[in-house]
Parts: sequence; structure tokens; C-alpha cells
Amino acid sequence: MAVIFDPLRERTRPAASHSDEEIIDVLTGVDETVGVDTSGWAVLTGAGMSTDSGVPDYRGPNAVPRQPMTIQTFLSHPDQRARYWARSWVGWPRMRSARPNAGHLGLAALPVAGVVTQNVDGLHQASARQMGSDSPVIDLHGSLDRVICLDQGHMFDRDWVQTRLSELNPDFAKLVGIDPIDVETAPDGDVDLEETADFIVADCPRCGGLLKPDVVYFGDSVPSARLQEANRICDEASGIVVLGSSLAVLSGLRFVRTAAKESKPVVIVTDGPTRGDELADYRSISRVADFVQDWALRGIQGDDDKLQA
Ligand SMILES: NC(=O)c1ccc[n+]([C@@H]2O[C@H](COP(=O)([O-])OP(=O)(O)OC[C@H]3O[C@@H](n4cnc5c(N)ncnc54)[C@H](O)[C@@H]3O)[C@@H](O)[C@H]2O)c1
Ligand SMILES: [Zn+2]
Repeated sequence: MAVIFDPLRERTRPAASHSDEEIIDVLTGVDETVGVDTSGWAVLTGAGMSTDSGVPDYRGPNAVPRQPMTIQTFLSHPDQRARYWARSWVGWPRMRSARPNAGHLGLAALPVAGVVTQNVDGLHQASARQMGSDSPVIDLHGSLDRVICLDQGHMFDRDWVQTRLSELNPDFAKLVGIDPIDVETAPDGDVDLEETADFIVADCPRCGGLLKPDVVYFGDSVPSARLQEANRICDEASGIVVLGSSLAVLSGLRFVRTAAKESKPVVIVTDGPTRGDELADYRSISRVADFVQDWALRGIQGDDDKLQA
């Protein structure tokens, strides 16, 4: 695959392998050699799906370099949990207010085999509700709007935990001199804050256990029932489309490797380099929302043509 230097973003990335129109021909089943229609595609999405909703990615050109919290660090010391929850408490209002963009909405309009997302922002579920889509959505890495008790698996709504944290820490915002609404949101919905040791963390109200957002941290593994469901979608699909992911995380890359091994078509739409580039049969470097909107227009138009035939 040809590789080019992008002077605007000062990084190397692959060249597009085909025009978007040609790739969308394949995705809508116009290309007889592939012979699949929209409903045969499994879609794997990453942080690039949500940058247009104002949720920053990890590895895009403007991403702030940062050390993600690992599960080992979270469990290692109460100060680490105070640090995590303080930052998360400050960032949650902004994260919660993110809305699906044209890419999420376009995808929800397409009857695909299923969406497996590495994102934890809930925006595919929100767009599916908005569009009345019934394609399955699997949040491989969990969701920030749920909180889990690590001792007994009790589940809580993130908004409830947010209120509880506000009650426990009435003066914290003033203490560190911030306005929770104005603080810039960092990738996992948390923010950079130094003075967090005094933050009081909420325990499980049912058993006193440790509470953690129901997301898969680095160093942690995807729950097996969820992984099986994602595998089932990808196994039954005739091909895979990656939207806005660097595929740097192995749990996402694996689906692409499996599809390639089974000689299923691999389509990657991401404006930066990915770990799956060598496996891609079709490679677009367009913005995800632009590409998906065109795909949805053609996918829906294709359905109309079929209805008229
Ligand atoms: N929105 C979220 O929920 C969120 C945000 C950041 C990180 N994360 C977590 O961190 C991990 C990050 O890995 P990843 O591969 O998903 O993301 P990543 O940040 O590693 O890669 C995103 C890629 O998408 C590209 N991109 C950004 N905006 C784009 C756009 N509009 N159009 C086309 N390309 C675009 C970037 O250049 C980059 O190459 C995931 O496992 C996820 O759980 C989640
Ligand atoms: Zn509990």
C-alpha cells in the first residue's frame, strides 16, 4: 500500500486505494465480484467516529499525549481511585452532553449486520434510538454511563454516582478553582487535575465494594459474553468496515485480522495510519462523517431502487 506524508498534519499515512465512490459501490453491493449488500457488513468503530461530536481521540493529530489509567493502577491505591474519580467527576457533564454527529446518524440509517464499537461514549446507542435502528450495537470496551461494583457486580447509573460524588465533595470545585462545565474534556471523559488526593470516592451503596466506571481499562480484558456477541456479528458478516480507529488496541485489530484470514473484504476509513493498513482491500482517508453520509445516501437509495424493481 502506497504511503504518503501529510504535510498539514505532519505525519505519514497510507494513500487512498480507491475513490470513496468506488468503495461505496462495494459497500452497497453494486460490485458484483464481491456480491454483498449493506446488511452483510460488520462495522468496527473507534474514537475517530466521535471527534466531530467534540469527544477527543487518543491518536489523532491534535490528540494530547497522555497516560491512560490502567486497571492495575486503579486498584493499586486509594489515592489513584481518588485521582480517577475526581477527574471523571469534573469531565462527566461535558461528556454527557455530547450528541451523535452525522456519521453516527448515517450509520444508524443503514441496515448493517451490526456495529462493534471501541468507544465508551454511548453515541451509537443514542443515534440508534434517534433513528429507530435495530442493528445490534456492542460496546466492546463498555460505557461511561454505567458504574459497576467490583466486589459483587452491582450496577449503577453514572448520573446517580455523579450526584452522590457532588454530595460527598461539595467544596471540591471551589477548592481547585474550576467550573465543572468549562473544563476541557480529555478522551475518557476525565480531565487533567493535580490536587485530587482530598476527593472523597463513593463506595457501592449496597455492599460497600469499590465502584469503577463500567469500561475496560488498559490492561483489563473484554467480558467474555460481550466478546462472544461481537465475534458472532463479525463471523456471520461477509466483510468488515473500520471507521475512525488506529487499530492500535489489539481487541479491535483482532476482528480485522480474522476477516482477512477468512478472505473477507476489509474496508478501512480513517484519516491517519492504522495497524490494519496492510490487511485492507479498500482504504479511504476521508473524514468518517462525510464517508458515512455518502454511504447512507447510496444505501438508502439502493433500497428504493430495489423496492421499485
Ligand atoms: N469516544 C470515545 O469513547 C473514546 C475516545 C478516545 C479513546 N477511547 C478509547 O481508547 C481507545 C482508542 O483507540 P481508537 O482506535 O478507537 O482511537 P485512536 O485515537 O487510536 O484513533 C483514532 C483514529 O481516527 C482518526 N480520526 C479522528 N477523527 C477522524 C474523523 N473525523 N474522520 C476520520 N478519521 C478520524 C485519527 O486520525 C486516528 O487515526 C479505544 O479502545 C477506546 O475505548 C474512546
Ligand atoms: Zn456492591
